[in-house]
Amino acid sequence: MIHTDRLILRPLEMSDLDELIAYQSKAQVVKYIPWPERTPEQVIEAIEKSFSLTGLANEGDYYVLGFALKDTNKIIGQLNACFESAANKTASIGWVLNPQFSGEGYATEAVRAWIDHIFATYDFHRLTAKIDQRNIGSADLAKRVGMRKEGEFREDDFFKGEWTSTWQYALLRSELS
Ligand SMILES: CC(C)(COP(=O)(O)OP(=O)(O)OC[C@H]1O[C@@H](n2cnc3c(N)ncnc32)[C@H](O)[C@@H]1OP(=O)(O)O)[C@@H](O)C(=O)NCCC(=O)NCCS
Repeated sequence: MIHTDRLILRPLEMSDLDELIAYQSKAQVVKYIPWPERTPEQVIEAIEKSFSLTGLANEGDYYVLGFALKDTNKIIGQLNACFESAANKTASIGWVLNPQFSGEGYATEAVRAWIDHIFATYDFHRLTAKIDQRNIGSADLAKRVGMRKEGEFREDDFFKGEWTSTWQYALLRSELS
């Protein structure tokens, strides 16, 4: 468990179901991420799957933690990471926030802690994030946590039925402030 000023980063539990349905089922939340608007059954499946996504020991591993308000222990969003390359010591990261809690800096606080945790726990040289160019809120967040926009790709992703353009953001261990 990871503590920040206002949040706890922790594994998802089946008892978080209602809080997860509240955002995973929303069109505005999944618009730029590769999920459907999840049904309650799909959210249950995702929680069950997350039980095995507990760390980044080997290339290809995926890691998921929820983040909850300290005061209530209710999940308001989640973080993910994928071990992309052992040779290049690179992982990618991602984030999702329940829009009901938007505009308070919660996602920024969670992602900062996520980056610190990943660099402190694993021997990564570099973290990356791929962001749809229409997803300005997410690009702003990447910038706020110190990631650099280092690549701009034109229609590199055939995503949800259309060609979309993405940005690559990255942060080196040596750039961690
Ligand atoms: C991307 C996403 C997490 C951004 O959410 P967000 O609410 O903008 O992010 P934060 O919780 O960090 O809040 C930042 C806002 O709070 C404000 N804020 C208030 N207090 C703050 C604080 N203590 N620290 C930082 N920001 C603070 C910031 O100024 C910013 O406001 P602005 O948008 O008017 O500039 C959210 O839109 C989301 O989950 N989208 C759907 C999923 C998604 O697309 N994920 C990314 C895939 S690449």
